[in-house]
Amino acid sequence: MMIFNCPLLVLFAISFIVNYTWKSEAKISHGHQQTFSFYSSYMDTTFCGTVPGLTKAQIELCHQQPDATLMAIEGLNQAVRECQYQFHGHRWNCSSLETRGRNPYISSILTKGYKEAAFAHAITSAGVAIAIARGCSAGLMNCGCDSKIYKIRKPRSAVSKTKWKWGGCSHNLKYGIKFSKMFLDSRERAEDMQSKINLHNNQVGRIAVSNNMQVMCKCHGMSGSCELKTCWRSAPDYRAIGKALKERFRSAILVDQTNFGKRNLRKFNMINQRKHKKQSKMKQWTPRKNKHKRDLSYDLLYYEKSPSFCERDQNLEVSGTTGRYCNRTSTSSDSCNNLCCGRGYNLIKKRKVERCNCKFLWCCQVECQTCSHEEWISVCK
Ligand SMILES: *[C@@H]1O[C@H](CO)[C@@H](O)[C@H](O)[C@H]1NC(C)=O
Ligand SMILES: *[C@@H]1O[C@H](CO)[C@@H](O)[C@H](O)[C@H]1NC(C)=O
Repeated sequence: MMIFNCPLLVLFAISFIVNYTWKSEAKISHGHQQTFSFYSSYMDTTFCGTVPGLTKAQIELCHQQPDATLMAIEGLNQAVRECQYQFHGHRWNCSSLETRGRNPYISSILTKGYKEAAFAHAITSAGVAIAIARGCSAGLMNCGCDSKIYKIRKPRSAVSKTKWKWGGCSHNLKYGIKFSKMFLDSRERAEDMQSKINLHNNQVGRIAVSNNMQVMCKCHGMSGSCELKTCWRSAPDYRAIGKALKERFRSAILVDQTNFGKRNLRKFNMINQRKHKKQSKMKQWTPRKNKHKRDLSYDLLYYEKSPSFCERDQNLEVSGTTGRYCNRTSTSSDSCNNLCCGRGYNLIKKRKVERCNCKFLWCCQVECQTCSHEEWISVCK
């Protein structure tokens, strides 16, 4: 038997008792409850010199705004964790971005033109924007809340009598985006294709954040009658951004290197070349004149075909897929067929221990038993 306390359940129980007056529009933002206790108004800037891989411009910014920089690094690491979640069944599973120095930009994959690098740029840039936007509202830096009164449509869920007003402290997305640009775009000084594409993908990440901003509301009134709601804008959680950008990853666009000129990437035209169809399903984009114009501001762009990620490659910090657990019945990326790259797999028997038969004890504990059972796990050769 195991007994343990569970703060979430406590919250749950309390909210039942108090006939809860808290309601949120749309989704619940997990990040909202985060605490950043280690930030203070006075900050030592010596850490600026100890983060590996920061550029000169980034170190300068760090000395000017150490608290925001620390928050940005936190955002980078949240983004890496989300990347790992989104790619956990893939051959490249994002673990190479989890560097010892907590700066994913020292990872060599980010110097490449692969689709995976495009995703990484977008999600880290989004991560910084989210972290700063939240940090501002939490009063951790001197950027403060976003006090703008936005026009919003009345959410469908709102009862007709409910009155609205903006109140509380909206996450400061404007500053989040600004800082994300200052911090990350400053890395891309070169006027070459790589820099331009990185800048573009950084921007795709930030656009994803601003397009996924949520409205959170709190009810006021006698015992949850909700006569008045105050609402504020909240940055999306990392999961929502990870999901949105994963979609973009799937439809990422290969930029034709030979035709790459000085033009703005947004002005690229699509070419539906039949000839290329056989070669690959990848869409080809070149800056030639064509009927099919499309706004690319939401699309991830890449310029280099990814390797298979099947074999170990030290230059890429890729350890290959040998030893990875795969799923025999899956038909997606985590299938043994895909993950093991045709090398096949071994079956190993593993004893799995789980909590089971959990009971909620009044108040406030959960009592569980441990159950174990054996299962066959397939491991790539
Ligand atoms: C990611 O892949 C590496 C090997 O390529 C493996 O060691 C690691 O456990 C994987 N991580 C996850 C979360 O699947
Ligand atoms: C394997 O894939 C199947 C089908 O997608 C899924 O139902 C199952 O939960 C997966 N198993 C594991 C252990 O992830």
